[in-house]
Amino acid sequence: MPPALELRPVDNTNWQAVTRLRVTKEQEDYVASNTWSLLQAAHEPWLKPLAIYVAGSPIGFILWGRKPSDGRLWLMRFMVDAHAQGLGYGGDALDEMIHRARAEGADALYLSYVPGNAVAERLYSHRGFVPTGEIVPGEPAELEHEPDEVVLCLRLAPGTAS
Ligand SMILES: CC(C)(COP(=O)(O)OP(=O)(O)OC[C@H]1O[C@@H](n2cnc3c(N)ncnc32)[C@H](O)[C@@H]1OP(=O)(O)O)[C@@H](O)C(=O)NCCC(=O)NCCS
Repeated sequence: MPPALELRPVDNTNWQAVTRLRVTKEQEDYVASNTWSLLQAAHEPWLKPLAIYVAGSPIGFILWGRKPSDGRLWLMRFMVDAHAQGLGYGGDALDEMIHRARAEGADALYLSYVPGNAVAERLYSHRGFVPTGEIVPGEPAELEHEPDEVVLCLRLAPGTAS
């Protein structure tokens, strides 16, 4: 059985390890660096950072929260370190986030992704996320030219299994 996955808050014990997690070079347009995301969370208190742990070590990162400007629950960042990808951890972490969103009574979970990110597209569509029709500018503007992103939504009807 694969080791169990845990989500832990990012705090003074693990923030440095989280900043050392990296996606592949080809994936760098798909997600902001964790250093950037932690800095953003320090200035935007609605954003909650979580570290994805497997066997006691951080292997991934999540940033999520309810955006004050639209009242929606957003999964703003989601990454698994290049060395730990393709092992099912991303899927497990996403399932746990869907469970948490439902547990806090949210009626929907939103996220956005860069078109062409085939792994993300597959991951989200297999869990029932569907396009809302919205296109948002890549955010935050860490890169000089952030690609536009397609917004997806998962409806969380009360009582639906996660
Ligand atoms: C997206 C990401 C978090 C997925 O994490 P992961 O641990 O590799 O995911 P999993 O191993 O659970 O695989 C997820 C799905 O993608 C598929 N997959 C994984 N790696 C793949 C690859 N290299 N090529 C094709 N499919 C792949 C898996 O088969 C699985 O499919 P399923 O849902 O049908 O079971 C990770 O690839 C990542 O960090 N990517 C860069 C950052 C990014 O794109 N973040 C999302 C921004 S919206």
